[in-house]
Amino acid sequence: MNVTAIQNQQYRLAARPFGMPKPSDWQVTVEALRDITDGEIVVQTLYLSLDPAMRGWMNEGKSYIRPVAIGEVMRAGGIGRVIASKSPKFAVGDSVCGGIGVQSYWVGAADDKTSGFYKVDSTLAPLPKYLNALGMPGMTGYFGLLEVGQPKAGETVVVSGASGAVGQTVGQVAKHKGCRVVGIAGGREKCDFVVNELGFDACIDYKNDALKDGLKQHCPNGVDVYFDNVGGEILDTVLTQINLKARIIICGAISQYNNTSTVKGPANYLALLVNRARMEGIVVFDYADRYQVGMKEMAKWMKEGSFKTREDIVFGLEKFPETLLMLFEGKNFGKLVLQVAQE
Ligand SMILES: NC(=O)c1ccc[n+]([C@@H]2O[C@H](COP(=O)([O-])OP(=O)(O)OC[C@H]3O[C@@H](n4cnc5c(N)ncnc54)[C@H](OP(=O)(O)O)[C@@H]3O)[C@@H](O)[C@H]2O)c1
Repeated sequence: MNVTAIQNQQYRLAARPFGMPKPSDWQVTVEALRDITDGEIVVQTLYLSLDPAMRGWMNEGKSYIRPVAIGEVMRAGGIGRVIASKSPKFAVGDSVCGGIGVQSYWVGAADDKTSGFYKVDSTLAPLPKYLNALGMPGMTGYFGLLEVGQPKAGETVVVSGASGAVGQTVGQVAKHKGCRVVGIAGGREKCDFVVNELGFDACIDYKNDALKDGLKQHCPNGVDVYFDNVGGEILDTVLTQINLKARIIICGAISQYNNTSTVKGPANYLALLVNRARMEGIVVFDYADRYQVGMKEMAKWMKEGSFKTREDIVFGLEKFPETLLMLFEGKNFGKLVLQVAQE
């Protein structure tokens, strides 16, 4: 196949945002694909995973991964189809998951370590599920809860961002492990979904109800494990309800990602001292060699019908800038996915 006739549209980081990303923080470029040589492939982007972490990657400074450089194609995980291959690793037509970037095509070595492409099977699960529970957010929730949180049957687990990609997984894994599960989410619709569809025991609508009262009501025995996706005031309030030897999993702090001043830390941290409790961070990539374990268990539950997921799919690469913002405005309902081309 002659790929040089194909135009690749790319979203590059034009400026480091101050607060919420603006349209002018992006530069859109269009260039023809180059021919591939031995060992290389061309992947057409089908779905991009839009993740809160992308906001952090746009900042300068030390983190668990290097920042996206100015002028570089924005980093993003995604799923695509191999449309040309000179590698024995992938055949034309294969569906692959990996670091595609915010662009309509990816070109490079099939074994490129940064992109880390691996095959996914659309006959086993719809492709967007590989960006949700069967992908990075799912692995975050699964290993973060089980390895860092170490929940025991009968304990109370609270999770914020409950209807989101990571939160959905955390709550359902905790239910499978015999815990009482209380979600925190913004709005009645999200809370109803979490309880009625995902089977959480309760969900507190932090936008309309008093969080502390809700925690007292739904966690009568206190909080043993808190899986924190949001940070800020919600973390501070949950700390007032923790039990002796509680485990607080610091997964993310989305309420702080677009701050124009410094990150607000928890004022109530002495609750850790009083309760001999532990607060520990999680970075999903640390569990990469065990993803198969998590995927296998959750895929089994999905097949049995005892584990559900919800994706929020927006169509069109040109919608990338405004769709990314949905995460920070609470406008996504489920794992946020940008569909770039029809399957
Ligand atoms: N450590 C890791 O390895 C790792 C890996 C993946 C993700 N994460 C983190 O996990 C968290 C969840 O990620 P996700 O992909 O599952 O996103 P998500 O929950 O699907 O989407 C983001 C949600 O965050 C909530 N939110 C936004 N602004 C908020 C605010 N100011 N206060 C409280 N809630 C707010 C909104 O839900 P409501 O409408 O309910 O407010 C929004 O829908 C993020 O912090 C992310 O950075 C960490």
